Amino acid sequence: MRERAKEFADKISTSKKKEITLISHIDADGITSMSIMVRVLKRAKIKFKGIFLRQLDERTVEKIPRDSSLKLFLDLGSGQQDILEVRGFKREEVLIIDHHIPEGNIYEQFNPLLLQREEKKVSAAGLSYLVAKNIGENSDLSKLAIVGAVGDMMANETNRLEGSMREIVNDARRNGFLDMRRDISAYGISTRPIHLMLSYTDDPYMDGLTDNKDNCLDLLKDLGIAAKEDERWRVWEDLSRDEKRRIYSELIERVKEEDQYRLSGENYIFKDEKRRTPLRNAKEYSTLLNACGRWVKPKIGMDVCLGDRDEGYGQASVLLKNHKRVIRELLEYILRNGVIKRENIQYMDAKDNFPDTIIGIGAGMARSKLDKEIPGRPMIIFGDMVGEEDLRKVSGRANYEQVKRGVNLQEAISIASQAVGGGGGGHKIAAGGCIPRGTEEAFLNGLDEIIGKQTAK
Ligand code: C5P
Ligand code: C5P
Repeated sequence: MRERAKEFADKISTSKKKEITLISHIDADGITSMSIMVRVLKRAKIKFKGIFLRQLDERTVEKIPRDSSLKLFLDLGSGQQDILEVRGFKREEVLIIDHHIPEGNIYEQFNPLLLQREEKKVSAAGLSYLVAKNIGENSDLSKLAIVGAVGDMMANETNRLEGSMREIVNDARRNGFLDMRRDISAYGISTRPIHLMLSYTDDPYMDGLTDNKDNCLDLLKDLGIAAKEDERWRVWEDLSRDEKRRIYSELIERVKEEDQYRLSGENYIFKDEKRRTPLRNAKEYSTLLNACGRWVKPKIGMDVCLGDRDEGYGQASVLLKNHKRVIRELLEYILRNGVIKRENIQYMDAKDNFPDTIIGIGAGMARSKLDKEIPGRPMIIFGDMVGEEDLRKVSGRANYEQVKRGVNLQEAISIASQAVGGGGGGHKIAAGGCIPRGTEEAFLNGLDEIIGKQTAK
């Protein structure tokens, strides 16, 4: 990993090309990767321009100029090298920093999946940071690497960042802005009123508390813990150690024994950010960036990453509020309309009710909400694509148990979509793609069969 990071750093800093074109993805990992590289290149006085893409395909590739610049792909590229080749990019003008499953080996890639016996839980922002470290003193950017990794669920399996990310977490600690501690694994410790934070927690499921905010409020009352202070709702971060401990021991009682380990995890708190804001911890910071990117305003997210706490931050906060509302509506829509089960998958069609950029998030939430069977079935959601009448977007999400049993959504979605004239990619646990309208049934049949084969091995 270190050697490869150094090689990439050398290639970037000694590039004979006059300029670098950065091409990145619109989600939290893509936005943080872009922000890291923008900062690094500015510091190193290397000329660059940046382009955000919601996905890399035959159409969007045309936005990348065919000029003399070095094209540095971030958080995309590994799975779409054929498209880059067709566009006419030569081997020496492309570098790819990505963690998606590679299709081919045409270009130079810094991708953990290509390194032998290496820890794979590092996303594009972590890789970008490791490269940045070799270009100059950039240890302050470790914060963005942590936000990107958490946004891409790198900490979800064990509730902590692992492997190569440990080095990055340690850099952040040495820098003095990171407060890292084992605490509750719930979402919203910096901004959500405590009873709401608890009632929204469904991983792990807390009997009588999950989805029941009144009971959560009663629990605080019973424990004699104030839910408000000066008319303002307190958040988890406001609680004393003793208050947290008392609540925690009640919560654990309501969780099935085999899931209890999921209730605690490492929280990454940024001491240099204002309390009670979503920038205060890595999980909420990454949602803020997703809210910008998935609503096609990645540049605003980048401004926040680069230090804007004024106008850009204000705009991002509005986007975040809207994002959270629509995500809630999307989950309610899926639960209300119900999913259809096939032998090896479950699916539903969100039609034109939600933008295609967020249905993957809906698939992830619905999977965790609905999948009480073990190991359960991967969740597939279809959606319309704005401005693309003839195409359907598809998003798939699995869980760790399914992946252990052989599920590989990248392979399955990629093969099943290509078979009907579409395409896709991603990870074993989360993948997406596009298919021609009208081929949904054939696609589902193919997908169901492939996943059946994957798990029968
Ligand atoms: O672009 P791509 O990597 O960036 O999308 C990441 C998405 O994949 C996340 O939003 C998350 O829903 C999903 N994912 C996941 N678990 C992983 C990796 C990714 O759920 N281990
Ligand atoms: O779009 P969605 O959130 O479902 O994407 C899940 C994962 O699949 C992401 O990592 C994304 O980059 C990847 N993906 C892809 N090709 C597509 C669509 C999604 O590689 N056409």
